[in-house]
Amino acid sequence: MLFTAFIANKYQPDAASLIYDADKMEAPEIPVDNPQTVQGVSLGRLLFYDTTLSINNKQSCGSCHTQALSFTDGKKLAIGTHSDTIDRNSMSLVNMAWSKDFFWDGRVKNLEDLMQHPISNAKEMAKDSVLLIQELKTHQYYPTLFAKAFPEEAISVATLSKALAQFVRSIVTKGPQLPDSLQPAAFFIYADTIKAEEELKLATLTGSYLRLGKMCTPCHTMESVGGEFMANNMIDKNQTELFKVPTLINVLSTAPYMHDGRFKTAKEIFNHYDKNINQFHKVNKHLGLDSIPNTFTRFDREHFEELLQLFTDSNIIKNEAFANPFKQKEFSWESLVKE
Ligand code: HEC
Ligand code: HEC
Repeated sequence: MLFTAFIANKYQPDAASLIYDADKMEAPEIPVDNPQTVQGVSLGRLLFYDTTLSINNKQSCGSCHTQALSFTDGKKLAIGTHSDTIDRNSMSLVNMAWSKDFFWDGRVKNLEDLMQHPISNAKEMAKDSVLLIQELKTHQYYPTLFAKAFPEEAISVATLSKALAQFVRSIVTKGPQLPDSLQPAAFFIYADTIKAEEELKLATLTGSYLRLGKMCTPCHTMESVGGEFMANNMIDKNQTELFKVPTLINVLSTAPYMHDGRFKTAKEIFNHYDKNINQFHKVNKHLGLDSIPNTFTRFDREHFEELLQLFTDSNIIKNEAFANPFKQKEFSWESLVKE
C-alpha cells in the first residue's frame, strides 16, 4: 500500500525526518513542542486533503494548494469555498520549514499559528473551529489517529494545527534538478565567486544561468530558492511595501505570479526585472543590497522560459508522499488505524 510505503520509507519519527541536502542547507528550526513524527505527518496529510475542514465540504487545503501545480492553484486570485474571491494569489508550500515570515505580507510568524487563518476565514474555508473539533472527535478514524500522533494531548485546534504544520513542513525540495551540462556550475555557488566575466557573456543557457545567479540570488537564495524573507521588487511604481520572496522551484507551474497574480507569463516577469532590477538596492535598504547591475542579454530574453524551466523539481509534483491519499486506490483508513 502506497501510504504505508510512504510512512515506512520516507520518515523517521524525529526532527530529522525532513529530507534535505545538508551540504547546501542549514537544519530548519522545528518548534520543540511539535517535532516531525511519522504519525503526525500522515495525520496532517489526511487533514490537508479533507474537505471536512470547509463549512460546505467543498474545499480542502489541497483545493488551493494543488500538488500538480507545486501547491498553487493556477488562479490569479484564490477562490474560497463559497466562491468568494480572496485578494491574494495562492502561495506555493515548498520549503516552509525554513520560512520565518508567512503569507505575502509576512504577517504570521509561525506555521502552527497560520493554520486557523484559512480554516476560519469567512472567505476561505469558513469553518467554525468548535464545530470542526466536534466533528473530528466523533469521526470514524480521526480520534485514533490523533491519539497516535499526540498521545498526551486531546483533539483541539492546537493538535489540528500541529499535524497540518508537520505535513506542510515535510514538503521539501532539494533544489532544482539541473541537467548535467550545468553541473557543477551550480549558479548559486558561482553567484558569489564569479570572476570570469566572459563566462557571463556566454550566449548559452549556462551563461544565462550564471547571470541569474548574480541578479536573482540576493533574494531568491539557494537554500530555499526564495521564501526566507521580505523584500520589495518594485512591481508598483513608488512601492514601499515588502512582500515575501516566493520560491522559484517549479516556477513554470505556479503562474499567475506575484501576490496579486498580475503576471501570467515568463515574458512579463523578464520585462519587469529587466526594467527595474538595477533600482532594487535603493528600495531594499533593510537587506543591505549592493546595486544589482542588469546584465541580461538578448539571449536571456529569448530563452527566459527555458531558463525558468531549470528550476523544476518534479519530486514535489510527483512524490506520492505529498499526494491526496483519498484519491489513491489503496487508501483505507482501517489499515491506518491498525498500524
Ligand atoms: C481558498 C484557497 C485557500 C485555501 C482553502 C487554503 N489556502 Fe493556503 N493560501 C491561500 C492564499 C491566497 C495564500 C496567501 C494569503 C495571504 O498572503 O494573505 C495562502 C497562503 C498559505 C501559506 C503561507 C505560505 C507562505 O509562503 O507564507 C500556507 C502555509 C498555507 N496557505 C497553508 C494552507 C493550509 C494548511 C490550508 C488548509 C488548512 C490552506 N492553506 C487552505 C489560499 C488558500
Ligand atoms: C530584491 C529582491 C528580489 C530580487 C533581486 C529578485 N526578486 Fe523575484 N521576487 C521578489 C519578491 C519580493 C517577490 C514577490 C513580489 C510580490 O508578490 O509582489 C518576487 C517574485 C518573483 C516571482 C513570482 C513567483 C511567484 O510564484 O509568484 C518570480 C518568477 C521572480 N520573482 C523571479 C525573479 C528573477 C528571475 C529574478 C532575477 C532576475 C528575481 N526574481 C530577482 C524579490 C526579488
